[in-house]
Amino acid sequence: MLRDFGLGDEDRAAWERSGLPAEAFEGWLTDRVARRPAGARAREVYGADGVHDFARRAILEALALGPGDRLLEIGCGGGLLLRDALASGAAVTGLDHSEEMVRLARERSGGAEVVLGDAANLPFPDASFTAVAMSIVFMFLPDAEAALRECRRVLTGGGRIAIYTTAPELRGTPAAPEPLASRSRFYDDDELAALARRSGLTGAAVVNDGGGQLLTARA
Ligand SMILES: C[S@@+](CC[C@H](N)C(=O)[O-])C[C@H]1O[C@@H](n2cnc3c(N)ncnc32)[C@H](O)[C@@H]1O
Repeated sequence: MLRDFGLGDEDRAAWERSGLPAEAFEGWLTDRVARRPAGARAREVYGADGVHDFARRAILEALALGPGDRLLEIGCGGGLLLRDALASGAAVTGLDHSEEMVRLARERSGGAEVVLGDAANLPFPDASFTAVAMSIVFMFLPDAEAALRECRRVLTGGGRIAIYTTAPELRGTPAAPEPLASRSRFYDDDELAALARRSGLTGAAVVNDGGGQLLTARA
């Protein structure tokens, strides 16, 4: 199964070093590949220009950032959205709970502030940002509503949010393969908008393009 995800000897050694029981393997693999990426292969994948470029473009178009903006990207991975957002003149901050991704994003983003942290408990004061982004992260959040409340807390009034995630119809396809899919959460378009409303966000709208969902809303 390691090979199916392009993993090799380094990853096999990391699994063996983990000392985890066999039944924990699929959870460990989900972390290693996407939920908390680590290892040379993860750095190569998430540092590559093409990674999730469709999501990056949709988010940046929706947010239409400018020099007055302060953007937070949650689950910033290799930092390419941060890099592209910096070009708009906005002040840009990334957050990720993978130490390796934080290091990579510092290298790849070309000047964004990048911090280690968890979406459930953002290490920022209220009203710190005018915009929040998440690209291919939402499905891994164990309590999505609580995370959205955190987003709303750190946004200024009227601040905007853009989240790109994967719809249930793509579960089990190459966009959301097993065993990752069984460890991810999928929401249909109405559920996604309802989650945002319950978190106190307004104007929630979902655009679904072939199973790629873009949720936009305001604080
Ligand atoms: C599939 S990768 C996507 C990375 C990047 N956003 C992209 O589109 O290429 C998911 C990223 O979200 C991070 N992540 C997942 N859950 C997180 C959480 N609860 N708090 C912070 N980061 C998280 C992972 O460490 C990983 O870097």
